[in-house]
Amino acid sequence: MSDNKTVSPESSLAIDGGQPVRTAPLPLEFPGVHHMDEEEVEAVVQVLRSRSLFRYYGIEPQKQVEQFEADFAKFIGVRHALAVSSGTGALHVALGALGVGPGKEVIIPAYLWVAVASAVVNNGGIPVLADIDSSFCLDPSKLGQYITDKTAGVVLIHMSGAPGNASAVRDITRDKGVFLLEDCAQCAGGRINGQSVGTFGNMAIFSFQMNKNMTAGEGGCVVTNDVRLYRRAFACHDLGYARDENGRLQFEDPELCLWGRGYRLDELRAAVLRVQLRKLPAIIGRMRASKYRIRAALAEFPQVQLRTIVDPAGDTGCFLITTYRDQATAARVNAALRAEGLVTWPQGISNVLMTQWGLHLYYNIPSLVGRTSVDGRGFPWSLPANTGLGGQYAKGSCPVADDLFSRSVLLAIPSCLTEKDEDDIIAGFRKVLREPRTNTD
Ligand SMILES: Cc1ncc(COP(=O)(O)O)c(C=O)c1O
Repeated sequence: MSDNKTVSPESSLAIDGGQPVRTAPLPLEFPGVHHMDEEEVEAVVQVLRSRSLFRYYGIEPQKQVEQFEADFAKFIGVRHALAVSSGTGALHVALGALGVGPGKEVIIPAYLWVAVASAVVNNGGIPVLADIDSSFCLDPSKLGQYITDKTAGVVLIHMSGAPGNASAVRDITRDKGVFLLEDCAQCAGGRINGQSVGTFGNMAIFSFQMNKNMTAGEGGCVVTNDVRLYRRAFACHDLGYARDENGRLQFEDPELCLWGRGYRLDELRAAVLRVQLRKLPAIIGRMRASKYRIRAALAEFPQVQLRTIVDPAGDTGCFLITTYRDQATAARVNAALRAEGLVTWPQGISNVLMTQWGLHLYYNIPSLVGRTSVDGRGFPWSLPANTGLGGQYAKGSCPVADDLFSRSVLLAIPSCLTEKDEDDIIAGFRKVLREPRTNTD
């Protein structure tokens, strides 16, 4: 409770015993599901009625996966799209297609999702951490220093809904002759100066897991303009071989006698994704409008540093990141905002300190920091081909990221915020940021 008796409960902070801005929880994140309705239901029912849940055969095949791939390739603006069972699966398949294995390093950003590191390691390669900048994505000005003759390529992750500096990263990877794989799992529908994320590199991946801009609960996609990479990815995601247009396996091409992973997408989820893709512009339009209304309101507080956005018009809007002068201020703002009712519960992660953002921060990934292996014999770290590869993974390895993580707060922007919800978020920030503790520079 506040010991300041001169401040009325209405105007004093809820964290100090005042009235909260709101008592109802904010809507849960999960962008795609807020826009789900009878259309998705009917699409699924149609597949069930056809009793044809597998992409290659059934009683009355519906070709939903094939059509989703065509729709998605058109939407992104690429020649080839390969639907797979998850974003993690898409990473495994793409890195396999790009030839990642023992003896190869892959550069990954300090702000990431664990699946990116695990896909490199599971393919037998070694991840190398690269620092980020105020865009919270790879810092192109530092990227060159990580690239050596052991580098196979770079994964640029468009984190927390906003694109990274893809053109600058692409120029460097082209110049150095290494691949660029874009991870667009958190940024489906994002653009940079009108160009879709996923079209800057040699390949790109998407995720359609529950908390993504469009979703079928689980699902993913690999896209590329390179037919050779597409064919390799296809073989890797399936049984290790090509198929003809009727889905029959082909064994003639010796370059496509690979090893498959069984990551095919099923017809039910493809049917949902076809509907969700049509809704994607509206979903991200809602989140972007909410986010930029809140960002505009925060402009009156110079003590708040807003994330650098490469192209605001192409931001998908699903997260707002704010950064404060030090760790204590960020912690106070976060706790005070939560007390004002800017939270979701019992599930949801609407408003967190970035240091609590789990496996998104490299130093929170125990398997990476501890270089663990599944086989108990050190794979892939101890393979002779990997001798001398890799770098440091413990906290301190990426100082800019460490500093930004320690001072930042992440707020999810649901795709269904009402004007009143936005008003409350703005009111909460105003209330909290006007307190002297958080606004002295
Ligand atoms: C950046 C990033 N890459 C990859 C993935 C993996 O996607 P999935 O959960 O579909 O396996 C995620 C999922 O959260 C992600 O955020």
